[in-house]
Amino acid sequence: MPFYHKLGIMPSPKHTAFRKPDGSLYTEELISTKGFSDVYSNKYHIHPPTKVLRINELPDIDLRLRKDPPVKHIHFYTEKLRKDGDFFDSRIPYLRNDHVIVYTAHPNKNPKDFYKNAYASEFIFVHRGSGKLKTDYGVINFVQGDQIVIPMGTVHQMFFDDLKDNKLFIVESDSAFEIPKHYRNQYGQCSEDAPYCERDFKVPTELEVHDEKGEFIIRLKAGNKMYEYVHPYHPFDIVGWDGYHYPWAFNIRDYHPKVGRIHLPPPIHLLYNTAHFVLCNFNPRPFDWYPDAIAAPYFHTNVDSAEMLYYVEGDFMSRTGVEEGSITLHPIGLPHGPQPGKTEASIGVKETEEYAIMLDTFGALYPTYNVDDCEDEEYYRSWLEKGDK
Ligand SMILES: [Fe+2]
Repeated sequence: MPFYHKLGIMPSPKHTAFRKPDGSLYTEELISTKGFSDVYSNKYHIHPPTKVLRINELPDIDLRLRKDPPVKHIHFYTEKLRKDGDFFDSRIPYLRNDHVIVYTAHPNKNPKDFYKNAYASEFIFVHRGSGKLKTDYGVINFVQGDQIVIPMGTVHQMFFDDLKDNKLFIVESDSAFEIPKHYRNQYGQCSEDAPYCERDFKVPTELEVHDEKGEFIIRLKAGNKMYEYVHPYHPFDIVGWDGYHYPWAFNIRDYHPKVGRIHLPPPIHLLYNTAHFVLCNFNPRPFDWYPDAIAAPYFHTNVDSAEMLYYVEGDFMSRTGVEEGSITLHPIGLPHGPQPGKTEASIGVKETEEYAIMLDTFGALYPTYNVDDCEDEEYYRSWLEKGDK
């Protein structure tokens, strides 16, 4: 919800008779958040969205955790595991707690059905690939580097231009992705010192309206439960909508990083917050310029948050052994910092070319059994130097 947006046709004022060319009424649907008290949109359907022919229960999503996971620093390679499928079926869950699930995916098919996450909003980072996100709010053309936010309850499909080499990093959240309050002025406009502004956001543009009868399947995810909802009308039958609740995209390359004379802590890289975690972007930037400033982060212990990093591109300045698509997890309560040599090597360096995305959860984050198949088992020992062993 970067700002108010509208597409298509609608009555004025709202909640009044809005008629089709044949004289019958369009169906108005209010999409509300926080019980009619927070952001909302009003949609106008050709057919009531409540018409359902059948509901079929599908197998549960496999979110099993690692058996007896030790509390230790973890590094794993998400490029190693692949699962065939469309943007949803190809997901592999790696980390989770009660409020968040972290996946990566290499989609190699385009979808036949529609998809809706009933209990969670999704942040989808397009590491590689381009295509069209089709939603009931309209279409967003996505490119490499886009960070797409799909609010819970949005019916959507993700089509790729090419099916050879796509990669997504996905964060599913049971609370909304929000622009931090300190990035907005009293009227909600992005402030002059925010790392982005409204013109940087891609919002739905074309509204593809389908008045089609048949059998249309929406795959509905509710926690780890999956259902097939078979509807008699095409889900994209909306002739108009307006409001603040809709999907949008922002490209990581458009994030304007902030820098300091000496090292600034991670909240300076904040992208979005939710009720249970924050997301940050690390972008190419000049380094701290005070004489002898140490550009690498100081060693630190987060006593109440777990810190996960997804490595996108470039030479990550404080880590050794990570690759594109690597994930590191530094759990609550354990100290971490640059690997041997990295602190000294960062002194006097002028800039970094790194791209990475950080997720800090307000509570523990646990690895799933998938981590077993792609883990760098020596990572927790990577701070040892010659003579320590
Ligand atoms: Fe850290």
